[in-house]
Amino acid sequence: MKTRCTQMLGIELPIFAFSHCRDVVAEVSRAGGMGVLGVAGFDAEQLDKELAWIDAHVDGKPYGVDLLIPNTYAAVGSQKLDLDTLLPAAQRDFVARLCDEAGMPKLPQDEAETLLREDARHINMTPEEGHALIERALQHPGVKLVVNALGTPPKAKVAELHARGIKVGSLVGKAEHARAQIEAGVDLLVAQGMEAGGHTGQITSMVLWPQIVDLAAPVPVLAAGGIGRGRQMAAALALGADGIWCGSIWLGTRESELDPLLKQRLFAATSDEAVQTRALTGKPCRALKSRYTEAWEQPGAPRTLPMPLQSLVGTEARLRARRAGAAEWLSWPVGQIVGDLKHETSVREVVRDMIGEFLDSVEKLNMLVNDDA
Ligand SMILES: Cc1cc2nc3c(=O)[nH]c(=O)nc-3n(C[C@H](O)[C@H](O)[C@H](O)COP(=O)(O)O)c2cc1C
Repeated sequence: MKTRCTQMLGIELPIFAFSHCRDVVAEVSRAGGMGVLGVAGFDAEQLDKELAWIDAHVDGKPYGVDLLIPNTYAAVGSQKLDLDTLLPAAQRDFVARLCDEAGMPKLPQDEAETLLREDARHINMTPEEGHALIERALQHPGVKLVVNALGTPPKAKVAELHARGIKVGSLVGKAEHARAQIEAGVDLLVAQGMEAGGHTGQITSMVLWPQIVDLAAPVPVLAAGGIGRGRQMAAALALGADGIWCGSIWLGTRESELDPLLKQRLFAATSDEAVQTRALTGKPCRALKSRYTEAWEQPGAPRTLPMPLQSLVGTEARLRARRAGAAEWLSWPVGQIVGDLKHETSVREVVRDMIGEFLDSVEKLNMLVNDDA
């Protein structure tokens, strides 16, 4: 297939895969699409390791990295590891009480502190941390695309990346955000509708995609949010997108390293169980409904904290629930297509089925306008 995005990046299929798992990234790029590694949870050293692994398994195909550099976040800075100061008692106690009442065994005190600090170390969301990660990533020659979410990259940074032969993309959820990104000089936009997994706005894909396509032209747009099959891909391209950007569909593949407990919960979930909640990160994020996300909605629950503190305050619950095997307390970002994930697949199967169904639907549409039909 040929679109402006495939030509810009030298790939064969306009299928972009966001994933935190290196196996998914490498496999999608090898299949002719473009894998993009979400690096928000890695420190620089870990990132090097992951990218070296991808370099060794991607058969020389291009891939990308995705960062979360929010425009607004709590100024955590160098006190990042001073958790007693950072995390208010009301929210910390609330989480501990939830776990106690659910009968999840406490973590040993010294272990809990170490694990919490370990978690804190992996949260890299300030512009400085983000730029340091980009520098590390660019030491890997296979990285051809840098994508940013939750903010607008500075114009000078975009120009610098261009000078180094790297394309730059940005996620947007509404028209006003797209204008700022185009002004900053990005090469492509990812228009992400509200049905998507992860941080989302309020506008559905059906409405958002053509709005952004028209506004961004001639900058190409990838459609994101609610795409897991070929008919949805055909709809995205019919609405003017130059390709698709998927996240949730890869969670159900065997290449995804998602906790098996969570994978099973995803396979059992219906679409309305992918709820928008601030409980996980402090910003509206579509994720699997769980007893934890529900608890933060109850009257009397404390206010959620700003990013990245809300993620940190949830660490204790995540760790205790995993150890206790309390699956109903676990949550993970996922979009409304969760209702279509029924069993484990593979990246190759997803790509093959997606293209097969896409071709079928294009043929059916062609028949509608064929004079001889
Ligand atoms: C588990 C998960 C984590 C995500 N984390 C990020 C992230 O760190 N950065 C980002 O740009 N997008 C993130 N997203 C959003 C994806 O990039 C993508 O836009 C979205 O998944 C598309 O909608 P879909 O889930 O319906 O496929 C995440 C999505 C999921 C499912």
